[in-house]
Amino acid sequence: MQKTWNSDRRRTAIGRAALSVPARQALADRQLSPDRTILDYGCGRGGDVRTLERLDCKITGWDPYYRPETGLAPADVVLLTYVLNVIEDPAERRQTLKQAWELAQTVLIVSARLTWEKSKVRGEEFSDGLLTSRQTFQHLFGASELRNYVEEVTRARCVSAAPGVVYAFKDDAARLSYLAHRIVPNAEWLASEDTTSAITALVDHVERRGRPPRVEEMPRNVAELLAHLKAGELKRLVRDTADPERVTDGAKGTTLNTLLFLAVELFNGRGPFNSLPLSVQLDVRAFFTSYKEACQRSDRLLLKLRDDSYIRGAMSASAIGKLTPTAIYVHRRAIDRMPTILRLYEHCASIAAGRPREWTIAKLKHQGRAVSWLDYPEFDKDPHPRILSSYLVDLKSLETSHMSYANSANRPLLHRKHEFLAPDDPEVPRYRRLTDSELKAGLYEHPHLIGTENGWEAELIRCGRELRGHRLVRRAAG
Ligand SMILES: C[S@@+](CC[C@H](N)C(=O)[O-])C[C@H]1O[C@@H](n2cnc3c(N)ncnc32)[C@H](O)[C@@H]1O
Repeated sequence: MQKTWNSDRRRTAIGRAALSVPARQALADRQLSPDRTILDYGCGRGGDVRTLERLDCKITGWDPYYRPETGLAPADVVLLTYVLNVIEDPAERRQTLKQAWELAQTVLIVSARLTWEKSKVRGEEFSDGLLTSRQTFQHLFGASELRNYVEEVTRARCVSAAPGVVYAFKDDAARLSYLAHRIVPNAEWLASEDTTSAITALVDHVERRGRPPRVEEMPRNVAELLAHLKAGELKRLVRDTADPERVTDGAKGTTLNTLLFLAVELFNGRGPFNSLPLSVQLDVRAFFTSYKEACQRSDRLLLKLRDDSYIRGAMSASAIGKLTPTAIYVHRRAIDRMPTILRLYEHCASIAAGRPREWTIAKLKHQGRAVSWLDYPEFDKDPHPRILSSYLVDLKSLETSHMSYANSANRPLLHRKHEFLAPDDPEVPRYRRLTDSELKAGLYEHPHLIGTENGWEAELIRCGRELRGHRLVRRAAG
């Protein structure tokens, strides 16, 4: 097959010491579980295949150059990792994607290198990409271009799991259960090893969800540990032990989460009620008069996303996040505590173009619709964290841009860290104390100077101060 290629595609396959980024994402998203068969289509030297085998995955790898002898058979999950980029013929590229889709029974996971890597790829223009001096070809995709392309070829509803990683689901139930987990990730149960701890786990679940679970929703060991109790006994136990206020708050939270889920689902194309995960079906039954009512309310929520004054109002009223003249900034730890409309805003951007794996603060603009995920890896350690990268998605044009500050000598940094967190975050008092002492020392008198490393350092010197961890002290003489 490689004889007909116009580029040296085999050279694009690298030896992998660790799992690729897309495979790691898919593992974290529970798409590569041991009960699913996996095909790594275009597996190159097979690094991911070996690592996933060690993780007990039932995986085979096929590659036209490195493993042409493997028989191609359908699998629950098909990985198409960095293959589309290297195919110089657009018709063959499309055909390869189609074939991968035909082989996928539950989900196809497509990943591609993105345009933000442009500076790393040098070469002459060729077809719709670049031919490097090593005769390898690269077509770099825009993040939402990749999602649109996969949607167009597969005609499936696709989700961007991360920038450059798209999931195309064949099975609606698998797609919806992935979305539900993504939107309400804290549905985990407490660990239990005896009846007492199983009851504690049950009560905790009731308080968080706002309703009792069905047996099918319980982890197997909880269901087994509680099996000897009669339904009436369990009901009484829960009624006597659960804190009614918490249950009411849990019910409110679940109602909003359900609306959020249905609105995201509408943004992604809505399916029928019986394709929803069981827990969501039960939430709809418990907290709405009907599925129709729940959908109407979530449709209204989605419509509000277009309303500038509504969004601005939600941001001003939000107890969470730092509001500036252009946007609201929220720490990752507090993002689920934002008003539902703002959570929806962030989710829609992430479904369209992928939320990066590493991020600390989300920035939501109130004029226009754009979300940036900003990475401050030392947020909790550094009193004034420095930015490492930012990834922006414009929801109107679906354009994305990425900026790395790794080699920047004078990086932007943060002040008043507590403002990005929820007021009850345990770190808030410490961060607030530092801000107060910095204010008192006159360090915020020239706000236009302190936004970057050099300016901030100069102001520290001017005010005769230095930082020891999160404490501001007088600068040592000399
Ligand atoms: C950049 S490598 C990626 C290898 C592997 N998936 C990984 O991420 O380590 C691209 C691979 O695509 C394979 N390839 C090229 N054309 C293909 C096609 N039409 N169908 C499937 N794989 C193809 C090449 O042989 C090469 O091993």
